[in-house]
Amino acid sequence: MDTMTTTPVLADAAAYARAVEDAKQAAAAYYAGGTSPLDDDAYDRLGRAIAAWEAEHPDQVRPDSPTDKVAGGAASGDVPHTRQMLSLDNVFSAEQFTSWAASLERRIGRSVERWSVEPKLDGLAIAARYERGRLARLITRGDGTAGEDVSHAIGTIVGLPERLTEPVTVEIRGEVLMTTEQFEAANPIRVAHGGEPFANPRNAAAGTLRAKDRPYTVEMTFFAYDVLPLNGSGTEAGDESGDGAGDAAGLDELAHSELIARAAALGLHTSRATAVPGRTAGATEEVLARVAEIAALRAELPFGIDGIVVKADLAADRREAGAGSRAPRWAVAYKLPAVEKVTRLLSVEWNVGRTGIIAPRAVLEPVEIDGSTVTYATLHNPSDITRRDLRLGDHVMVYKAGDIIPRVEAPVAHLRTGEEQPIGFPESCPQCGSEIDRSEQRWRCARGRDCHLVASLSYAVGRDQLDIEGLGASRIVQLVDAALVVDLADLFTLTREQLLGLERMGETSTDNLLAAIATARTRPLARVLCALGIRGTGRSMSRRIARHFATMDAVRAADAEAMQQVEGIGAEKAPVIVAELAELGAVVDKLVAAGVNMTEPGATPPPPPGTEPDTTEAVAGPLAGLSVVVTGAMTGALEALSRNQMNELIERAGGKSSSSVSKRTGLVVAGEKAGSKRTKAEELGIRLVDPEEFAVLLGDFLPV
Ligand code: IVH
Repeated sequence: MDTMTTTPVLADAAAYARAVEDAKQAAAAYYAGGTSPLDDDAYDRLGRAIAAWEAEHPDQVRPDSPTDKVAGGAASGDVPHTRQMLSLDNVFSAEQFTSWAASLERRIGRSVERWSVEPKLDGLAIAARYERGRLARLITRGDGTAGEDVSHAIGTIVGLPERLTEPVTVEIRGEVLMTTEQFEAANPIRVAHGGEPFANPRNAAAGTLRAKDRPYTVEMTFFAYDVLPLNGSGTEAGDESGDGAGDAAGLDELAHSELIARAAALGLHTSRATAVPGRTAGATEEVLARVAEIAALRAELPFGIDGIVVKADLAADRREAGAGSRAPRWAVAYKLPAVEKVTRLLSVEWNVGRTGIIAPRAVLEPVEIDGSTVTYATLHNPSDITRRDLRLGDHVMVYKAGDIIPRVEAPVAHLRTGEEQPIGFPESCPQCGSEIDRSEQRWRCARGRDCHLVASLSYAVGRDQLDIEGLGASRIVQLVDAALVVDLADLFTLTREQLLGLERMGETSTDNLLAAIATARTRPLARVLCALGIRGTGRSMSRRIARHFATMDAVRAADAEAMQQVEGIGAEKAPVIVAELAELGAVVDKLVAAGVNMTEPGATPPPPPGTEPDTTEAVAGPLAGLSVVVTGAMTGALEALSRNQMNELIERAGGKSSSSVSKRTGLVVAGEKAGSKRTKAEELGIRLVDPEEFAVLLGDFLPV
């Protein structure tokens, strides 16, 4: 988690002066609507280099240096703030945080009794002034002393209601940002109106907030992180209005956590409504544990965070700590590694997947993001490329966090040189040359899954599907080239002679492969369904379908309405699955003829339509009705099981497998190295067992 990347060293006063100029320019662009030539990481590094040089040469600090200024001194405005809107100091590691906390405690002369730990939202600070419960004015942070009036944005920001639940006069401070979804929706609208796409959600929010009189509106989201008394709220002298706002009096005495609860009660959106709610913590170790938890959840969040803010929670601690010119002394930002970088789009590859989908993939100038080198990123589908207005040679903002697949957010349009070239779309299937079915957003080879037989067969024989050992991709290529296999079912009718006729195929490997194929005939229906590669279904959906219908006959007999009875299949997906199954009819017939199992052990088919549902039938098994989450490494009897096999086991024993812990979770199986899921289960008071206890609980359901 240590994100303290190397700080460049400035050689001399001239280099320092240049660095200050660059930083000022970048900050100006950043705060003026989002066209900074530097990504956050590069800007931070420049700032650190400047600060390091200034520490060595305190007598030569330039008055325009950004280091001691809110917004790097770049922003301004003409609406005075009631109280300074400050920035935050940063720490980049646990050690730095601990020493920051110690210095705060030395300053106040006692330990901080309680901390508040919350996500650092990656957007822009605004102050929202409510008068008698009505949103009257919106002001940007500006230079911290005065900001710009952006009241025109009222009504376009989710979570910032025009009326509070009580008629109070208060100022709410918080962050405005675009969620990933809002950003994805906003750029195409902007491009359609002749604008240049915004490079990332933060820039999009900055530009959108300040833009007046646009012919279109796009949505943003607000998160409150502070509540302040406002003139007339009863805390200021001379307030005798008796307008019911007196409740705001004493706000300055509330703990930060209480303020946030108050904001939420007033109807404002706060981090409480997210997967990473602000929490309080006692000791600094507890703070660090929560920091790690929030960091672990970052990649899954539907909005950007660039760190975690740690604040002294109690009002007395904050008051006594005070503030410097740029930042308070009672709060600090624990910065997380940058997950966005600017790099160049070199080319676009078109790959055909196992179901025949033709997917574009961006080839990038390699760039290091969050500890790994990124060379490829997904581009979703052709219309997405058009909507994003991407061009070859463009500088693009690339996002990658945790294990997620890197994605191109948008081009950095102002870095265009005019040399950029349009991205060519394929005329015919790049795999087989057939026609392309362009009827849906995602293009597909007209031959569907037959186009890329090697890919679909490789998937079908994989460990979590039919699990046929000894059938690697090169062997499949041989079989396909020799025309021995034209679909999945052909694997089950391969003869000894045919296999022996292949190159590099001896007697032993042939017999082993035939034995593996024989075993694969006995796999449960869920595995067979998954191996068929039905669009819109993966492993867990295949299991649900198999458990619901119990037999392939019942699955094939289902119409769209019956298909929707399966949990997680909605009106949109159901007809696609039914159509895909019909398309696969001939292959399924061949599989049946080849003796492949078509039933799901332990499942009973649903009653025929029109009959009374059997309500007495409860799900049987030791985990009946329980939602179970598995985390950490399995040991003992469960050691050899993949996650998929664990999930199968849970579902066979009557439970529901899930990947995330929530209030609805009934049981968490936590093995060695279990991390945030275990902590969350403990916090929610959910029953925890180790793999050994779980194996005992499963009893007869354990695989032999
Ligand atoms: S507290 C005086 N809490 O980060 C305290 N700020 O880098 C300053 N930010 O200007 C604000 N999430 O725009 C606070 N949970 C949070 C925040 C947060 C994001 C922003 C805010 C601030 C900037 C400083």
